[in-house]
Parts: sequence; structure tokens; C-alpha cells
Amino acid sequence: MQTTGNTILITGGTSGIGLAFAKEFLKLGNKVIICGRRKNRLEEIQHQQKEIVTRVCDVAKTKDREELAAWVVTNFPDVNVLINNAGVQLLTDLTKPVDLTRVNNEVETNLTAPIHLSSLFAQHLSTKKEAAIINISSGLAFVPLSFMPVYCATKAAIHSITLSLRHQLKNTSIKVFEIAPPAVDTELGSDRREDKTLSHGGLPVDKFMEEAMEAIKNDILEAPIAGAKNSREKREVLFDIMNP
Ligand SMILES: NC(=O)c1ccc[n+]([C@@H]2O[C@H](COP(=O)([O-])OP(=O)(O)OC[C@H]3O[C@@H](n4cnc5c(N)ncnc54)[C@H](OP(=O)(O)O)[C@@H]3O)[C@@H](O)[C@H]2O)c1
Repeated sequence: MQTTGNTILITGGTSGIGLAFAKEFLKLGNKVIICGRRKNRLEEIQHQQKEIVTRVCDVAKTKDREELAAWVVTNFPDVNVLINNAGVQLLTDLTKPVDLTRVNNEVETNLTAPIHLSSLFAQHLSTKKEAAIINISSGLAFVPLSFMPVYCATKAAIHSITLSLRHQLKNTSIKVFEIAPPAVDTELGSDRREDKTLSHGGLPVDKFMEEAMEAIKNDILEAPIAGAKNSREKREVLFDIMNP
């Protein structure tokens, strides 16, 4: 897709991959709208990058998603790109009764929100000459890490829903992308790191961005990035290695 002149909504733009996309697309001459739950973070980002539009939104809440979509379409009718990026990654022990509120919140954030938001924006985006929905899945969509089973299942489902969405929208102007990151050094899972300043040890965000932007620019609709390619191609072999 063209990487300039768009109006782009990015869910989960307060850190990591979402914030990196926001900065990159801003640099390339796009209008960028980000959302997240942390108001203070959004204010900080807005202070540093005056052109970024921010909105507090919890994508795990139906009402927030509906209000976000209506607000964006009303105030930024040129919106032509949706990046479903917001995500959480929790550990879940399935050998004993799970806390369903926690599980449902993870599913609502990672899976229901992209499904709902894509459907809320589909008609509006299809009125644009060029449009895109970009779903951020994961290498773990193809090979789960069994100690975070719900997270991996939501990402496998994002892979599946992206295939169906692409097919349903095939006669529209909307290109449907799946970007599957490998482990990338962001705040994901930082709630379980004692020292929050410690690196998560994944690919540096700027390296991830180089490859992801190339895929977007060149219309590579299904783009596993770096190590995630291996996960997609060798899933059975990798399962045993990743889950000793
Ligand atoms: N980093 C990796 O290794 C990796 C690998 C594969 C896939 N991914 C995927 O990449 C995406 C971005 O993650 P990241 O690595 O950049 O992690 P991150 O730094 O933790 O960023 C996650 C973003 O999602 C937002 N978010 C979480 N729950 C939300 C909610 N209910 N409503 C609105 N926003 C919410 C957070 O904002 P607030 O906290 O302000 O709400 C934050 O901006 C996720 O979908 C993740 O699954 C990451």
C-alpha cells in the first residue's frame, strides 16, 4: 500500500510496536491517530509529537470500541487505514480452574476487538480509493508456547480471521494484511518482569519496523517477520523445541 498521505488509526499506540508504527507513519507524511488505556502516556506522546491525535480507549470494552469508531469517522472522515495492534499477553495455567474475567479480557483485547473494529470500519474504509486493515498477529499464532495458551490461541485466531476478512473484502479497495512479529523488545509481558527496565530480549523494535514497513510497502499481505517465518514453516518441529 502507499505509505504516505493516509489517515491511520492504530490501537495500542502508547508503547512498543504501535508507537513505533505511529512515529514511522507520521514521519512518512500520514495523519496518525492512536489510542490506549493509559491517559498519562497518551498525553506524554502528544506533548512530544504534537501532530499525533490521541484518544483514551479500552478496546476490551464494546462501548469504547463503538465510541472510538464513531468519533474517528466523524472527526477524521479521511481515515483509510486501521491497524489492529493493541494486545496483552498473559500466562495461564490450565491445570486448575482459570480466572475467567482475566481470560475473557485477554480474548476481548486480542481477538474480539480486532473483529469488532474491522467490522465497524469496513464500510467506511471501502469508500476510499485505497484502504487497509493491518492485523498484528504473532509467530506464536503458528506454534504456541504452552505456558501462555490463551494468548497463542487468540493469535492463531487472528491468523484465521484475517484470511476470512481478506476473502470477504476481496471486491473492495481494502487490502487486509497480517504482520506476524517474532519476539520483539517491547513492554509486552513486562508486568511479569520484576525489573521493568530490563529488556525482554527480543528483536529491537527498529529492526522489526524495517521489515514490517517493507512488507506493507510491497503489499506482502501475510508477513511473518524475521524468526516468525520459521514458526510458520516448521510448526510441528518447533513445538517440541519451544515446549520441552
Ligand atoms: N513484542 C513481542 O514480542 C510481540 C510478538 C508478537 C506479537 N506481538 C503483538 O504486537 C502487538 C503490540 O504489542 P507490543 O509488543 O508493542 O507490546 P506493548 O509494548 O505492551 O504494547 C501493547 C499496546 O497495547 C495497548 N493495549 C493493551 N490492552 C489494551 C486495551 N484493552 N485497550 C487499548 N489498548 C490496549 C497498550 O496500551 P495501554 O496499556 O496504554 O492500554 C500498548 O499501547 C500486540 O498485539 C502483541 O500481541 C508482540
